[in-house]
Amino acid sequence: MNRKSFDDGLVANRILWDARARAHGTGPNDLFYDVDSFLAGRQTLYPIELELAGEVAGRDVLHLQCHFGMDTLNWARLGARVTGVDFSPAAIARARELAKRAELTAEFIEADTQNLPADLAGRFDLVIATYGVLCWIADLDAWMRGAAMALRPGGRLVLVDLHPMFQTLASYEPLVADWPYGGGEPQREAVTGTYADPNLPMEKQEVVQYPHSVGEIVTATARAGLVVDRLSEHTEAQFDGRRILPQGPDGLYRFPFSDTHLPILYSLRAVSPQTRAQ
Ligand SMILES: C[S@@+](CC[C@H](N)C(=O)[O-])C[C@H]1O[C@@H](n2cnc3c(N)ncnc32)[C@H](O)[C@@H]1O
Repeated sequence: MNRKSFDDGLVANRILWDARARAHGTGPNDLFYDVDSFLAGRQTLYPIELELAGEVAGRDVLHLQCHFGMDTLNWARLGARVTGVDFSPAAIARARELAKRAELTAEFIEADTQNLPADLAGRFDLVIATYGVLCWIADLDAWMRGAAMALRPGGRLVLVDLHPMFQTLASYEPLVADWPYGGGEPQREAVTGTYADPNLPMEKQEVVQYPHSVGEIVTATARAGLVVDRLSEHTEAQFDGRRILPQGPDGLYRFPFSDTHLPILYSLRAVSPQTRAQ
């Protein structure tokens, strides 16, 4: 992909995320973000990332693509020293304001996660990114190099995201796929509305997303010098990232397939080696 196409994608996507960062958690129907209950102490993190991260108290945590900071601040509630990064100035402004309201300490930095500031190098025990992350990333290698750069030797990357196969689907019933499985080719689309609250009025916005397969994600992790110690594919989740799945009586979402289920999330944990290969 040439530089102009890369930059055009960043500009378009930032407009969308600025608008979403201003709107999310502000409407009466936005139970997805529900800022009031967060301020009252609700833990917004899910068991998958909590289990993979392990004990975070006293650890330095970098949260990539932190949006308006609710999850970042929940890592702080668990005792971590947190830094959140997002490329949306509106998200960073709201995250700083939310930290004040929640009376929690956090640093928030405006940056493209494909080009992280060099002064983050080697500062973190844990780099975390969750739910709706890599589909916005044109240069997967640059993203992984940034995550690896920010880790201390022995530090860990925890990435939890929608499964690339699930992302190919436009609808579950009838089963329709409208996205490539991986390859990274830019996918242009006009987006109206937002996943957090279908009733929020949002202007139509052209955006660019990038499909990356599980193989491409793991390969980029290895190319960045990280060692994968866990890759899991999850067949149930507390939310439906595409709003197309049936919800079970237990409240969980699954993608039924014959008499079994297909994965809707994946999680990856990778370790920064104690000594870096040259
Ligand atoms: C679906 S949200 C992530 C949700 C997040 N886990 C949360 O706590 O709500 C995706 C985020 O990625 C950010 N983003 C997209 N592309 C980015 C980039 N190139 N660099 C930094 N942030 C980016 C958006 O601004 C948005 O906040």
